[in-house]
Amino acid sequence: MPQVEIHGYAIVSDNDCIADASGHTPEVLRNEADWAYFQAELNKSAVTVLGRLGHEANPNPKGRLRLILSSSSPGLERRADGWWWDPGKVSWEDAIRTVLPEGGRVAVPGGRQVFDLFLSIGYDAFHLTRAEGTHVPDGIPVFSGCQGSRSAEAILAERGLVSGETQVLDPRGPITLAIWRTSAGNR
Ligand SMILES: NC(=O)c1ccc[n+]([C@@H]2O[C@H](COP(=O)([O-])OP(=O)(O)OC[C@H]3O[C@@H](n4cnc5c(N)ncnc54)[C@H](OP(=O)(O)O)[C@@H]3O)[C@@H](O)[C@H]2O)c1
Repeated sequence: MPQVEIHGYAIVSDNDCIADASGHTPEVLRNEADWAYFQAELNKSAVTVLGRLGHEANPNPKGRLRLILSSSSPGLERRADGWWWDPGKVSWEDAIRTVLPEGGRVAVPGGRQVFDLFLSIGYDAFHLTRAEGTHVPDGIPVFSGCQGSRSAEAILAERGLVSGETQVLDPRGPITLAIWRTSAGNR
């Protein structure tokens, strides 16, 4: 198994949503400072893992290596736009061994099913940005376990991740960021 470090990235509303009821990112979750932070993080990553819808919705002008989750993949398949993976047919260990034989940092920007899957695989870090004061009615939560008062933070804590200090990315809002890491990563 190559040495990999898995980092999740999400911007969420006060009610833990990443998208609106129609599956689109609402304006209240778009922020330039968060986008700049996310892009800088992608520059440090060897591969970006994302769901098919997110892949189709977000062009890849820098030609970064992508690993796209889709049930349309026969398992793990190299296409012109990246590696296409179905985790029901090929395990994470086998997929990442092929995609990153030398190891490296793995960026996981969602969506929800992908965030859920990596809760089981295990995040080394989760970069949780909050657009404070926003509410997305009937939206898609970052983790399917976010229901009622069960927050994203509670789910990350249950998985053994610990929050670093909260930083302000943009005083308007404000937009805040907390990086959650495994306790090993915090030492
Ligand atoms: N606020 C944020 O930080 C944030 C983060 C991520 C996404 N978003 C927004 O959320 C929306 C997209 O998210 P989404 O959750 O609707 O879709 P998504 O995760 O981008 O794509 C969902 C698709 O990915 C494939 N997939 C996901 N998990 C899979 C699995 N375990 N096995 C096989 N295939 C799998 C399936 O493709 P097939 O149908 O081909 O099988 C599924 O239909 C966009 O609007 C995006 O901008 C926001």
